[in-house]
Amino acid sequence: MATRARADTGSAVKATPAGVAPPAAVAEAGGPAEVGTTAGPAAIEVSHLSKTFGDRMAVDDVSFSVARGEVFGFLGPNGAGKTTTVRILGTLISATAGSATVAGIAVGPAGAARIRQRISVMPESPGLYLRLTVTENLEYFARLYGLPGRAARIREALAAVGLSDRAHVLAGGLSKGLRQRVALARTLLNDPAVMFLDEPTSGLDPVAAHEVHDLITTLRDRGVTIFLTTHRLEEAERLCDRVAIMNTSLRTIGRPAELRQRLFARSLDVTTAAPMAEPDRVFGGLPGVRGWQPGGPADGGRAGYALSVSSVAQAAPAVTRALVAAGADVLSIAESRHTLEDVYLKLVGEHGERSR
Ligand SMILES: Nc1ncnc2c1ncn2[C@@H]1O[C@H](COP(=O)(O)OP(=O)(O)O)[C@@H](O)[C@H]1O
Ligand SMILES: [Mg+2]
Repeated sequence: MATRARADTGSAVKATPAGVAPPAAVAEAGGPAEVGTTAGPAAIEVSHLSKTFGDRMAVDDVSFSVARGEVFGFLGPNGAGKTTTVRILGTLISATAGSATVAGIAVGPAGAARIRQRISVMPESPGLYLRLTVTENLEYFARLYGLPGRAARIREALAAVGLSDRAHVLAGGLSKGLRQRVALARTLLNDPAVMFLDEPTSGLDPVAAHEVHDLITTLRDRGVTIFLTTHRLEEAERLCDRVAIMNTSLRTIGRPAELRQRLFARSLDVTTAAPMAEPDRVFGGLPGVRGWQPGGPADGGRAGYALSVSSVAQAAPAVTRALVAAGADVLSIAESRHTLEDVYLKLVGEHGERSR
């Protein structure tokens, strides 16, 4: 992928029909950064943000902060308020309550134009003009944003998404995956400091989705802050430094691995070749072990035990020794791992999808 020089571009333009936000520049930022991959001021700060449409609460008192250079996942089911949040932060609609900064600039009428120069938004639908070629589409948006050096920017953006050979093909003749890539190329035109990608892989086949994932990784490596909304868990888990789980209000936030650990009691799964006569005596009083219950495979005469533990590091060796001392034929001892999906379903599944 070509590296492009960051450019300060002057003119601020209103939101386009496609909902894309105008040109870029280097982000300067303010406010404290919290956990993130990059030290320094936050790329996005959101404080008690709410949005109602009529009597419908779309976003309810949401606060979080995204560090510069971070890939931040905004995860939630349909109707959770993800797009609404992106539209507020992208200065396309105003919040009902609360405040936010993007690239250090307060979100609001006064800062909107400057924010749009520093960000780009890839909306849920690519919003391309289907009867224009790929290059004509990008040319159109580049002009709209008043970007200098358009030809070179377009060439570089197309190269970055691997579409150089489709430059002169009609957008309407491209597959959904390729249109999505053109939309990504468009978000690159202004060399944004913060990118909002709203469900960028929605409706793509696994191969096309994988390509988009690779592009996101490449962008991250270039230091772009990425705010990625998705309802795809494996996507969030794979790409994101931190994940917020959202369903109108914020349910939780953290690194994917942290969320799994925080939300679920840790456990050790033990399988023995045959049931033990007195598991209570074997497991009772061991350091780090809180309790046990039958679990795991009980087929072929085997027996499974699920131990809830306060510390795997402390419990596992003690359990191993106790099992050996009790003469048990141990087939396996393993720490239970929960996927982010477990966390997600626990947090939003009880309520199901919100009706739209
Ligand atoms: N312009 C609007 N007018 C009325 N209701 C809206 C509007 N935009 C979004 N909503 C409602 O706000 C809620 C959140 O929507 P949205 O932010 O699009 O969710 P998500 O992107 O997570 O699927 C939904 O209930 C949706 O119907
Ligand atoms: Mg949405």
